[in-house]
Formats: sequence, C-alpha cells, structure tokens
Amino acid sequence: MVRVFINGYGNIGKRLASAFSHDKEIQFVGIGKYSIDKRVDEAFAKKFAVYVPEQKIPDFRQKGYDISGTISDAVKESDLVIDAAKDGFGYTNKVNFYLPMNKNAIFQGGEDRTGEKKVADIIHNSRINYDQAANQKYVIQGSCNVSGMGRIMQPMIEKFGDKIQRYDVMLIRRWADLEDTKDVKDSIEWDKNPHHQEDVKSFLPSVKLYVEAYKVPSRMMHLHQMTIRFKNKIPYFDSLSDIYHEEFGVAVLDKAKGTADIRLKARELGFEHDDTNMVHIHEETMRKSDDTLKILYSDDQTGIVIPENHLLFQSMMFGRPKNMAYEHTDSLFQISKKRDMLEKEFKT
Ligand SMILES: NC(=O)c1ccc[n+]([C@@H]2O[C@H](COP(=O)([O-])OP(=O)(O)OC[C@H]3O[C@@H](n4cnc5c(N)ncnc54)[C@H](OP(=O)(O)O)[C@@H]3O)[C@@H](O)[C@H]2O)c1
Repeated sequence: MVRVFINGYGNIGKRLASAFSHDKEIQFVGIGKYSIDKRVDEAFAKKFAVYVPEQKIPDFRQKGYDISGTISDAVKESDLVIDAAKDGFGYTNKVNFYLPMNKNAIFQGGEDRTGEKKVADIIHNSRINYDQAANQKYVIQGSCNVSGMGRIMQPMIEKFGDKIQRYDVMLIRRWADLEDTKDVKDSIEWDKNPHHQEDVKSFLPSVKLYVEAYKVPSRMMHLHQMTIRFKNKIPYFDSLSDIYHEEFGVAVLDKAKGTADIRLKARELGFEHDDTNMVHIHEETMRKSDDTLKILYSDDQTGIVIPENHLLFQSMMFGRPKNMAYEHTDSLFQISKKRDMLEKEFKT
C-alpha cells in the first residue's frame, strides 16, 4: 500500500482527495488545509484526516476541529505527496518539506519547470510521456489546457505526423471555477506569454506550436480552436471519430451548443463534482480547406487533470504498464462510461 497525502484542499485538491481516497491500492493519509472556511467542514464530513501548519493548530482546535497533526507530520507519514497548492506554493513546500524528508511529490500545472522556482524536470501527459515518469521523484502534472492539447495532438501526430506543418491554438479560458467565490469580471483579457506553448513543447519538442490565450467571463470550461496546417492537402479521413473513438478521455460530440450544456449535463447525470474529466470534440464545427483543418474542442478545466494525476501516480510509484494504468484509472473514474453517456446525449 502506498501512503498518499494531498497537500492543499482547493478546487483541485478536493477532487484529488475524493478520487484517491477511494483507491484500494492507496492508504489515504489525509489532506492539508491552510485557512478556516467551509471546506474544512467538507473535509471532516468526508471523514478525511486534516493536517494544518503547526502555527495554525491552536486556531483550528479553538474552533473545535479535531486536527490530526501538522503538515510536517503528514508528509513524514507519506510515501508520496500530491501537492495541490496555489500557484508557486508547491516550490516552497518542496524546499521546506519534500526535499528535506526525501519524499516523492507530484506538483500541479501552476508550478515552474524552469528558472529559480523550478520544482521538476518533467511535465507529464499520460498520452505522451507516461513511461518517462516511472521512478521519478518529482514530476509536474500538466495544467488542464496542456493536458487537453496533448490528448488531441498525439493521436494526430501518430496518424499524420510528418505530413503536418504546424499547429496554432487559440485558448478561450474560463475566468473562474464553479466553486470560486471571486467575481467574474466583465472583460476579455489576453495573455502576452501563455505558458501552455512551452509546456506542451516540453513533451512534444519537435512540433511547431503557436498558442494564444484569452480569458472570458465564464465558469464553464475552456474552449480550444486548433488549426492544423498540413504540408500539402489534408489527408483523407471520414470523421474525427475515426481518429479519436478509442482515445481515453476524449468524447466526440456534435450537438452541444456550448460549454455550459456539457457541464450542466454532467451535473444532471450525477458525475462527481460536475466533472466529465475529459475533452469534448465538437465535430459539427470541423472545417477543412485545402491544407488547413480546424478543430474545436472543450476541456473540463477542473476535472481533466484528476485522472491524469492518478495515472502519473501509477507510473511514479509502481512503474505500471500504461494500458494497465488506464484500466485501473478507468475503473475508478468511469471515464469510458461517462464518455458513452455524453455521446448518447450529444451525438446525432
Ligand atoms: N482550477 C483549475 O481548473 C486547475 C486546473 C488544472 C491545474 N490547476 C493547478 O492546480 C493547482 C491548484 O489550483 P486550484 O484551482 O485548486 O487552486 P485553489 O482552489 O485556489 O486552491 C489552492 C489551495 O492551496 C492551499 N494552500 C495555501 N497555501 C498552501 C501551501 N503552502 N501548501 C499547500 N496548499 C496551500 C489553499 O488552502 P486554503 O484554502 O486552506 O488557504 C487552497 O485551498 C495550481 O497549480 C493550479 O494552476 C488548476
């Protein structure tokens, strides 16, 4: 049994905790919490052991919470920490805890792979470099958009690789997550240096990729417009289902009208945390013109990285073959079943 601690209980941490606490191969140590708010009650309601920074123990106890120990105690008890901290705090945690205690850690996509605050050499994408994560001590799980792009690009590369000239991707990003209490600002904002381009190129170094990113006032997923330019005419294929129907975590739909349709359907169908955990290709919007193919797909920002973390965990801690890891993750998240349900709802 591998002992796992989830350090941070925000939008990603709480989803990681729901999933990892149900995996029978894992001894779930508990979660790390930093502020006193309604999420503490949520964690206790789920019967998770809660660990907090040493200096905050009196505050939590004064409010009546039965704290299991300090963050340091939890890291000590664990074989692997999945860090789900606010962007940049993963680095501090690595320096203060994981390195001195010689513990394995997975970091999230808001952490750096280069520069002063680098936490790991590798960004993981299960479809591309799952095997390279085996026996690594520190790995970053790519962010939601980066995970989604890998999931769409790798099958294209395998089918048409040397015929493709370049990829241009326009990311339309949600302002906030469903659970965030911050206001959604009425503005469209641009990103002068989207990190996604370099993150994807870290695992697909020979691909020509150009990314632009815009943030819009929505809480309902991301949307990617991907333009694939071929060296000559687009090779023949009938439908995107021909390329993606066997892909883990990719649904091919043709009658959703927008990202909210899918998110709300996930809620109606009872998917945990309203997550689909996948990307959804909107086949009816596909455009083909001479050498240029345009694909539109939406990306479940909060959900997609959770099974990716679970796959990465299996590579790092068990060195398990990828197909077996996909099977195990599918049994925990029911991704194939959810994809079939969404396709039934949104495919003619
Ligand atoms: N949200 C997404 O859709 C999404 C998708 C993919 C990847 N990510 C990445 O996942 C990471 C977490 O994002 P999030 O959306 O979950 O953020 P979030 O909702 O703001 O949660 C961050 C959590 O970090 C906790 N925290 C504060 N100091 C900490 C420390 N020193 N160590 C550990 N945790 C600490 C906070 O705890 P308290 O609340 O108790 O203060 C908070 O719950 C980021 O790297 C982000 O880029 C996010």
